[in-house]
Amino acid sequence: MIEKSRGLDADEVFLDLEDAVAVTAKDDARASVAAALRAGGWSAAIVGVRVNDWSTEWTYRDVVDVVSANLDCVVLPKVETPDHVTALDLLLSQLERAHGLDVGRIGIEAQIESPRGLVNANAIAASSPRLESLVFGPADFMASVNMRGLVVGEQPPGYDGGDAFHHALMTILVAARAHDLQAIDGPYLQIRDVDGFRRQARRTAALGYDGKWVLHPDQIAAGNEIFAPSQEDFDHASDILAAYETSTSDVGGRRGAVMLGDEMIDEASRKMALVVVAKGRAAGMQRSS
Ligand code: GLV
Ligand code: MG
Repeated sequence: MIEKSRGLDADEVFLDLEDAVAVTAKDDARASVAAALRAGGWSAAIVGVRVNDWSTEWTYRDVVDVVSANLDCVVLPKVETPDHVTALDLLLSQLERAHGLDVGRIGIEAQIESPRGLVNANAIAASSPRLESLVFGPADFMASVNMRGLVVGEQPPGYDGGDAFHHALMTILVAARAHDLQAIDGPYLQIRDVDGFRRQARRTAALGYDGKWVLHPDQIAAGNEIFAPSQEDFDHASDILAAYETSTSDVGGRRGAVMLGDEMIDEASRKMALVVVAKGRAAGMQRSS
């Protein structure tokens, strides 16, 4: 799996030491991950490791062993309070110094996946300049609130009151945006059901999430497609920006509210369009001719 991950078309690859590793295999996994990181060679822009959470006996050792020049970020699971992030931040600072790396270069991605983590999401989001994203963990979240369902991310059977995850997803998104972090949706475990993955990914992409974990190479293309804007939306957003720039200029009559087709656009439209264009550019898109 580690070999295969080196060539995948994902924005980020992280190697797991937490829940995908059996308790009896933690030491071996840590050694394999540390060796793989030293070798490097990933095509993904960001390479990370998910360490075990602070309630275990493994976190400090995970972090000490995996920090190397090739590590871009640490995924910290089950973050419940800001001091979980602070503890990792301090440890990383020492390790960066010890390895002669720039202090602060390794980022932190915090998983919010428990009631306590969710009620503290805002304080967690403000806890360290190393933080890059808040990540929703649907599996642990479902377990920790006693949600009646065994299919991760799917609506619990018997609940017909809307989206059972809306509150958690929106709380994380708002906390992330309030502190300029990315909001990332967690895994979809039915790895053979790419349509199911697409359904889940579309929901969080529509809310404003920046991306979603993938557990299997088959989910990558779907994730990349869904979290980039459609060509139609990208073109429309580009047109809004162009039209608004013209209308607000001297030659355009310095008008802050104008019609573009059947739609009135103003400064808020420009801000919405900027988001779409930025996401499209990040995905390598260009205005179609
Ligand atoms: C991921 O860690 C999850 O719990 O969903
Ligand atoms: Mg989890």
